[in-house]
Amino acid sequence: MPLLDVCFTPELIHLYALKGRVVVVVDILRATSTMVTGLAHGLEKIIPVSTLAECQQLAKHGYLTAAERDGKKADGFDLGNSPFSYMEDLVKGKTLAMTTTNGTHAIRLSEAADQVVAGAFLNVSSVAAYLTTQQKDVLVVCAGWKGKFNLEDTLFAGALAHKLQGNFEFENDATLAAAHLYAAAQNDLMEYLSKASHVQRLQNLHIIKDIAFCLQQDVYEVVPVLEGNYLVPYIPETIKNWV
Ligand code: MLT
Repeated sequence: MPLLDVCFTPELIHLYALKGRVVVVVDILRATSTMVTGLAHGLEKIIPVSTLAECQQLAKHGYLTAAERDGKKADGFDLGNSPFSYMEDLVKGKTLAMTTTNGTHAIRLSEAADQVVAGAFLNVSSVAAYLTTQQKDVLVVCAGWKGKFNLEDTLFAGALAHKLQGNFEFENDATLAAAHLYAAAQNDLMEYLSKASHVQRLQNLHIIKDIAFCLQQDVYEVVPVLEGNYLVPYIPETIKNWV
């Protein structure tokens, strides 16, 4: 039975062997939620980059650009990091160069894995379906906040662990902890996260509706899969068995 482990922040990623594994990168508020939303609404592909300079450089190729720092849209780029900006026709058929405070860098740090996918509550069952077909060990990499643990990404890891229980063996205490945390929170994620640091940070920026949107489960079937430098949309055949 393949193993499921959880890395609470990218600062710990050096402790994990990525070769032979599928890494699920999660940044619930909001990078991976926004990636899933954009690809579900017609984005052709996404180039996740770590720095503003890399993102700016890619604008020269005619790509749509998105940049967020500390929850705010960065100046000089087309879009920020609200999933609601990615439901418009302007994304259809486009390639997006994207950089966020934590999520896009977590993806780049994970690229030594056999496969890297983007997970969110919005596509959690599709991610579970995808992982079950791959039959490889899995590591969930939580984007956290500037190297620190955050609640929402770990709750996603727990939700995924609940879905994979029986098909995957929990490898370490981190998976157990994430599963127990999710069991405590699952009936009302919003309430459970009301004091979470990034929820408070976004609310202080008057970014309210993004939070509730990103906490919904199974709104989309698409799984962003990293192919070279690009995240491309993939819909698992077996998704119907999961939702
Ligand atoms: C992140 O990269 O941590 C998030 O995407 C930040 C945000 O969008 O608020």
